[in-house]
Amino acid sequence: MRRPTVVGNWKMNASLEDTAALVSGLTSGWTGVHQAEVAVCPPYVYLAKVAELLEESNIAFGAQDVSEHESGAYTGQISADMLLDLGCKYAIVGHSERREYQGESSELVAAKFEAAIKKGLVPILCVGETLEEREQERTFDVVGQQLRAVIDRVGLEGVAKGVIAYEPVWAIGTGRSATPEMAQEVHAYIREVMGPEGEHTAILYGGSVKPDSAAALFAQQDIDGALVGGASLKAEDFLAICRAAE
Ligand code: PGA
Repeated sequence: MRRPTVVGNWKMNASLEDTAALVSGLTSGWTGVHQAEVAVCPPYVYLAKVAELLEESNIAFGAQDVSEHESGAYTGQISADMLLDLGCKYAIVGHSERREYQGESSELVAAKFEAAIKKGLVPILCVGETLEEREQERTFDVVGQQLRAVIDRVGLEGVAKGVIAYEPVWAIGTGRSATPEMAQEVHAYIREVMGPEGEHTAILYGGSVKPDSAAALFAQQDIDGALVGGASLKAEDFLAICRAAE
């Protein structure tokens, strides 16, 4: 069976002080989470601190990105080995904010995905359509293409080593979550593209997940958890979402 998984994406938020407060809120409020896999993805520069603070906990952590290169003259980039060195389990790849603001193509995202799995870092592959694409009824096309770019590079067995996050761009940070049915439709499509290889692959939903919307989303057959942005910055809200995933 697939393990329910909740991942917090802090994006470019929090200070060193906020990081300590947030992590301490998570560890001290850690009740009612027994089966779910929980992880947080702070900014790179706080990873070492988070690693130290989470040492005795059941909470895993990861980065918000990873380089497609193994090492070398790539100023400003961080490799999979470096993340593993700090104890990272995950790296988000292909978040829509990076696709949009850093101009990351699906091919580059696929290269990052491959760089992660080669080293045993678990990539969380984000896919999702814009509002315009949804209105043009191109959701499956867009999500399918984003997914296929990675399948073409690492095969279905490769993709199955990661986690997939369906994040409709229009639902991210807007307070406008997809309905559970809308999300389920796309999750089922992703599951179908993955075929039997994807039977054990967690497919998370992301986009304005809040404590009061989480349970209905998680009740859907193919929604295995969430990638949480805004609500992961409040320990109580994030914990409530983790409990809803149980
Ligand atoms: P949100 O962000 O929960 O703030 O909408 C989700 C994400 O971008 O991963």
